[in-house]
Amino acid sequence: MSVPTEVIMSQHYDVAAVRQNFPAAEHVVYLDSGFQTPLSRPVKEAYERFLQEGFETAGPKQVWLNRLEETRAKVASLLGAKPHEIAFTKNTSESMNIAANALPLRAGDKVLMIEGDHPNNAYAFLNLQRKGVEIVFIPMTEVVNAESFRPYIDDRTRAISMSHVTFHAGHRFDVESVGGLCAQRDLYFVVDVMQGIGVVPIDAKAMKATFIGSGTHKGLLVPQGLGLLYWDATRIELEPAYLAAASLASPPADFIARADNMALPATAGRFELGNFNLPAVQGLGAALDFIDQVGIENIQNHCFDLGDDLIARLDGLGVGLVGPREREHRAPHIYVIALPAAEWLDYFTRTGIRVSPERDGIRVSFGMFNTTADIDRLVEAIRARNAPAMPQARTAVLSKLG
Ligand SMILES: Cc1ncc(COP(=O)(O)O)c(C=O)c1O
Repeated sequence: MSVPTEVIMSQHYDVAAVRQNFPAAEHVVYLDSGFQTPLSRPVKEAYERFLQEGFETAGPKQVWLNRLEETRAKVASLLGAKPHEIAFTKNTSESMNIAANALPLRAGDKVLMIEGDHPNNAYAFLNLQRKGVEIVFIPMTEVVNAESFRPYIDDRTRAISMSHVTFHAGHRFDVESVGGLCAQRDLYFVVDVMQGIGVVPIDAKAMKATFIGSGTHKGLLVPQGLGLLYWDATRIELEPAYLAAASLASPPADFIARADNMALPATAGRFELGNFNLPAVQGLGAALDFIDQVGIENIQNHCFDLGDDLIARLDGLGVGLVGPREREHRAPHIYVIALPAAEWLDYFTRTGIRVSPERDGIRVSFGMFNTTADIDRLVEAIRARNAPAMPQARTAVLSKLG
């Protein structure tokens, strides 16, 4: 399927050129970047370079580790942080578990979370119940900000953990106001940014986060198996639950472990364990360069424009949207259509449209390569299946108005 140029204009960047880097988007209408972004050329080339270097030179580990440090600096720049505040992990779940277990929580302490938040964030904290920590869920409402949490804070509350963007309805919660509240009330603040990173600009300092956790296989364009952890390096009291030589300030040069030299570095390296997922880190370095060339604000604005178009056209069809409609409260790239997944998912798959089933409908999620032509195909598919019902629906509306 080729996309005519007139429908791929964006006010923000040359989407046609960007799209050429995602060949999978030509074989299927790919509206599922909230699940996994298709492999792009720059990331594929970074993996190929790694394989070739390993194949021809038996693994130049120091070269790869130098590149890892360059990538760490790029991640830091994306998050408005310092390189020494970034650790590489396996995925979001591992980052959230590292964070949850580093907090100095004791029996009777409380952590506040949002009901229905992503399970990979929630279980990391629910597991602390084994230590006697109480997890209190506040209701999931369309807008979540400091005022949503304030009534639940008491003298036993120690931390708040939440997602920035929800995977199941595309809320974009006001993490900066919640971070401000945490700073005021001396609470630790842990944020899961997996669903927004790479599309929504993130400023760790403006969020006043203690920890930020993420994976890299959605907006950061890397295949599964690499995660990130931001740690506010002023929180030097936070220590890892697990330890390896890599976590130490001075790993023993003779490789003999000694109990008398286990000081931790003042860097997020204290949370790293063992060898790294080096090919994925190289892929991430290439992805971050690519994202930087396009511009994160541009990606966000392009996705917002696609979202405005999608909402207007769903309105035209009389099909509902689950989750927030206003740009202020919604994620740029995640939209859940109120069509029962059990009835619609197979139909979309048969029609060559890739979307995800969610608890309240069908999730459409955009990447930097999507165009209005993709929305045309989706809307046309909905219209085609609803067609026999449409005249009746219109009559019902008219008679109501009359
Ligand atoms: C908010 C959120 N957190 C975490 C994850 C995934 O967790 P992990 O990276 O551990 O697979 C997802 C989606 O896959 C998500 O939407």
